[in-house]
Amino acid sequence: MANLIGAVTTSHIPAIANAMANKLEETPYWKPFFDGYPPVRKWLNENKPDVIVLFYNDHGLEFFIDKKPTFSIGVADQYQNADEGWGIATIPPVTGESELSWHIANSLVHDGFDMTICQEMKVDHGLTVPLSLMWPGNDYGHVKVIPVCINCEQHPMPQPWRCLELGKSIGKAIESFDSDMTVALFGTGGLSHQLDGERAGIINREFDLECMDKLVTDPEDLTKYSNLDLIEIGGAQAVELNMWIAMRGALRGKVTELHRNYHAPISNTGSGVLLLEHEMPS
Ligand code: DHB
Ligand code: FE
Repeated sequence: MANLIGAVTTSHIPAIANAMANKLEETPYWKPFFDGYPPVRKWLNENKPDVIVLFYNDHGLEFFIDKKPTFSIGVADQYQNADEGWGIATIPPVTGESELSWHIANSLVHDGFDMTICQEMKVDHGLTVPLSLMWPGNDYGHVKVIPVCINCEQHPMPQPWRCLELGKSIGKAIESFDSDMTVALFGTGGLSHQLDGERAGIINREFDLECMDKLVTDPEDLTKYSNLDLIEIGGAQAVELNMWIAMRGALRGKVTELHRNYHAPISNTGSGVLLLEHEMPS
């Protein structure tokens, strides 16, 4: 079976890549944010996962509001970023892992998840910014990435409980893959934030910290929330917590917290970093 060695949660806001491109990491605004990452980079460099299963949401690049898969998965050998209208820098393509992707896709559909399976897929900042952040200089081409995309933009969106179930099914699929490859998970986005409307800029620090605690020790507890609860408590885009919940569902063995950082606000968000080590279930 493939060895699922750990998981990382991280913000994915485009301003991070911009700050790195313009060498702003040590400025007073950005330093408390970037100070959260050296232990995660060190862990990745030491443990060298072959594959990252990356839970993210597409903000309108590949799936616009006219066609919105609830859950989708990429099965390609390579993914391109594209211009989202932000004037973003050109970055290298993302390497895929077709065989494990198909194994997970088959297993998910078998378990009752009606996935949209993407043989081609452009990937947006939700997926690329975390890679640029973990491997500075955009040096992420050696890592194979499996995109798992959850609708967090257009109602109706899958509920937290369903996202946890999706993650559990993905964890099972990784465990049943006949290979000695090592796998890590990324859950991107969050935490409390709202980008427009009357409550734009809302941050709920207490809620963010509670979510981080529960994510480690009692992820099932987070399924007491509906998406509307998350929106009320943490802002319209707090639904991005669903990516973290799905990711956590895939960790079915022993989980140990190795590192955390919380900083808010950064751009319009509360930013949480968690590094979790995972021992495969026996
Ligand atoms: C911001 C937050 C997001 O979740 C996103 O996808 C883009 C931008 C922000 O706060 O800047
Ligand atoms: Fe986002």
